[in-house]
Amino acid sequence: MPVRAWKGPPVPIGPLPNPASPQAQATWNLFVFVLALGGAVFLLIAGLIVVAVVRFRDRPGRAEPRQGPASPRAEIAWVVGAGILLLAIFVATVITMRIVDPPAGRRIPDLVVTGHQWWWEVSYPGQGIVTANEIHIPTDRAVLVHLISADVIHDFWIPQLARKMDLTPGYPTDIWLQADRPGVYLGACAEFCGAQHAWMRIRVIAEPAAAFAAWVQQQRQPPPPPPGPEAAVGVQLYQEDTCGRCHGTGIGPDLSHVASRQTLAAGLLENTPADLARWLADPQSVKSGSLMPNFHLSAADVRALVAYLETLR
Ligand code: CUA
Repeated sequence: MPVRAWKGPPVPIGPLPNPASPQAQATWNLFVFVLALGGAVFLLIAGLIVVAVVRFRDRPGRAEPRQGPASPRAEIAWVVGAGILLLAIFVATVITMRIVDPPAGRRIPDLVVTGHQWWWEVSYPGQGIVTANEIHIPTDRAVLVHLISADVIHDFWIPQLARKMDLTPGYPTDIWLQADRPGVYLGACAEFCGAQHAWMRIRVIAEPAAAFAAWVQQQRQPPPPPPGPEAAVGVQLYQEDTCGRCHGTGIGPDLSHVASRQTLAAGLLENTPADLARWLADPQSVKSGSLMPNFHLSAADVRALVAYLETLR
């Protein structure tokens, strides 16, 4: 079955890069500054080459140009000039780093994001919440994110909100995540990490503080009892040496509130009953290489599991 592209809720992407946080704005400013300096140097050098080629080109009857040592003054000017430019870039970089990067040795993180092949585990240690592939943050403050990898090198990148940061096994790092305005901000893994690197998407849902608090409350609710016989069969199936072996153990994404998420399989599928059924029926045909095995479930089993999972809001 061909894989369909994302057709979910509209995502506000204005004229790029459209930074939406002080950190992303500072990174963009540094980029523009270095681009402008580099562009000016390029125009100067390229212009001088054009002048030299045109003005000093060979013509019939012209004598050999004077050959001699370069002017020491010109040499010094070039070296000092280049040094000043590099110093300016260095200072601008240090200023940007102070805005973009959290100071070393800071407090407990608000959020821990773990890169897995090929999905993101998102946990809120303070609230006891674990979710996947979607990060909810309040818009009233910067959130300290601790980044770790469970397997290979991944790279966490939400272009509108924060700098890129590698997730290197054994080398945890921290970044700020902040959004000035509510919205859904798309991101992706930006380091090739295996077959499904392209389907390691992540989205940040930035909400006003009250909406964020409501989301936290909802995520802390225990699962409701199965509403009907089909969902009850689903619960049983889930626990019988199948889903529960990996989900909720850190091997697969936590599904406690899976129905409240926007996508499945790290952004590959819309989170609809139909797509969930497709995924359960044959995960490898949807996302080959993922750890989710094909349990060869019957159509009735798939329906029961979908009925159960849809109650996990
Ligand atoms: Cu993870 Cu690419």
